[in-house]
Amino acid sequence: MCGITAYCGNDEALPFLLQGLEKLEYRGYDSAGITILDKSLTTVKCKGRLQLLVDELEKYDLKGHVGIGHTRWATHGIPSHLNSHPHTNDKNTLSLVHNGIIENYRELKEELVNKGYHFQSETDSEVVVHLLDSYYQGNLLKAVQKVLERIEGSYALCILSTRHPDEIIVTKKDSPLVIGKTKNASVAASDIPALLAYTKEVYFIEDNEIAILKANQIHFYDQKGKEITKESSIIPYDIDAARKNGYDTFMLKEIYEQPYAIKETLRGRIQNETILFEELKNIDFLQFNKVYFVACGTAYHACLCGAQILERITHLPVLTQVASEFRYNDPIIDEHTLTIFVSQSGETADTLGALRLAKEKKASTIAITNVLGSTISRDADYVLYTCAGPEIAVASTKAYTTQLILLMLFAYYIAQELHLTVNTKAILQLQQVPWYIEKILEDACQFKEYATMLKDKHDAYFIGRSLDYASVLEGALKLKEVSYIHADAYVAGELKHGPIALIEEGSVVIAVATQPHIASKTISNIQETIARGADVILLTTNHYQVKNVENIYYLPNVEPTLQSILTAIPLQLIAYYSACIRGCDVDKPRNLAKSVTVE
Ligand code: M6R
Repeated sequence: MCGITAYCGNDEALPFLLQGLEKLEYRGYDSAGITILDKSLTTVKCKGRLQLLVDELEKYDLKGHVGIGHTRWATHGIPSHLNSHPHTNDKNTLSLVHNGIIENYRELKEELVNKGYHFQSETDSEVVVHLLDSYYQGNLLKAVQKVLERIEGSYALCILSTRHPDEIIVTKKDSPLVIGKTKNASVAASDIPALLAYTKEVYFIEDNEIAILKANQIHFYDQKGKEITKESSIIPYDIDAARKNGYDTFMLKEIYEQPYAIKETLRGRIQNETILFEELKNIDFLQFNKVYFVACGTAYHACLCGAQILERITHLPVLTQVASEFRYNDPIIDEHTLTIFVSQSGETADTLGALRLAKEKKASTIAITNVLGSTISRDADYVLYTCAGPEIAVASTKAYTTQLILLMLFAYYIAQELHLTVNTKAILQLQQVPWYIEKILEDACQFKEYATMLKDKHDAYFIGRSLDYASVLEGALKLKEVSYIHADAYVAGELKHGPIALIEEGSVVIAVATQPHIASKTISNIQETIARGADVILLTTNHYQVKNVENIYYLPNVEPTLQSILTAIPLQLIAYYSACIRGCDVDKPRNLAKSVTVE
């Protein structure tokens, strides 16, 4: 999730670009850069936060009415000066900024290198500028159209050319881009906050439409290059609300971003029925006789789910442990153990400590993280990235579901590499998960209503079995983190061994029953709580007969292994709305930090 800005107008471009980048820094901030066009192109970029770029720019006297800017959240290539945007062609006549992932960049790069193009960076984005150069024959719009026919993946692009000094070409696919019109300029950015200090009048373009921004006008074109007209819209909210994209809190925004984050995490990973993990191609999975998953908090819950699925599919012994325990419990691991460390931030002290121990014991290590260049990504032997984009709310939501989807893919990948029978239906259905999540999000008011049941409660009980147990552990964590209601999760079969003593008239029990081999047992356990006066909220599918439960939400029927991703959404929303009803500061819960870098 990078941030991009573009200005073409009658005033200086730089102030707009920089203020816009500052508003977009929440999208990612490992490096930043700008290009200003004034007869020639001047590009200045810096690794690190935007302020370093601002300091660097003091050494220049940059003037120009046309320019583009970028703040980066690395996906391909470590955060570095060379990998920072904008990227320029060899002749320095073209410059562009890109947000998204070009999936087929390797093939394109090979083709361009064979034609004599020189690459400066490790990024996927740089192929676009050289490809554009190779197609340019005097008409920039046509060259851009040809590029769009060749590139696969997601992109928002802003392009400058010295041969067309009074314009900027912008386009997008599956990546946000909004265009604005001020009295003196046409502007663009990856998100509305970057525009609001200048204008509230905006235009939205559809995937693969192209716009040419000029100081006094904007021309829009469809995919085939035919000029089209667009109506502008007026943004009804202010900058602070816009940073949250109109949502009241970052947590809610991030909950709603899950379909997109999951699509990005899956991007380029499934080809027909084959799973691709280029990064792991040197691993011979036959060498392992045991697998360990290690993480903390929400990431640990994702691991519990991933581990169960991996064990079911591969029949390899798979263990999951909380990092703070693993690192001090002298685990029995050696060079035949595969250890997997999952961390959104990649900086959690306990997880890093556990990873170092595994390395000392010669186990193979794979990190799964959301932050490129994070310590865990540098320390592990191999690394896989979730593509959730920056998660700002302390309570993890989109990081969790992207971890789940990646872990599921990973389990199927190992099965594929071990030549085991793979559930192709599940692999194909993984790609429909974003759509199913959108459907569940449409029912948000239902979960808001369930949340009212918790308004004055001190406790809540979550129950589930098998994969549903991992889901309820996460549901209970979410509820306690943001609403401060004491919540515990139990294996439903364990209720009768103790916890049921706590159930009384008015107790709230949140149950999940989605796993075909065991759901009916959980449903029986629910009856035991109802008999003792509990008010039950049940998340299930319409496969099962349920009596006496008033509050049932039917999740879409998907392959059992994928069900946990869908279950996460109602549980997140119940926690979220409970916290709101109780007046809690949802984004910054008391006593918690986003990244726990101490033991
Ligand atoms: O950055 P990490 O994934 O390593 O963080 C692990 C936990 O600290 C984190 O998941 C924490 O439990 C969240 N607050 C959960 O919402």
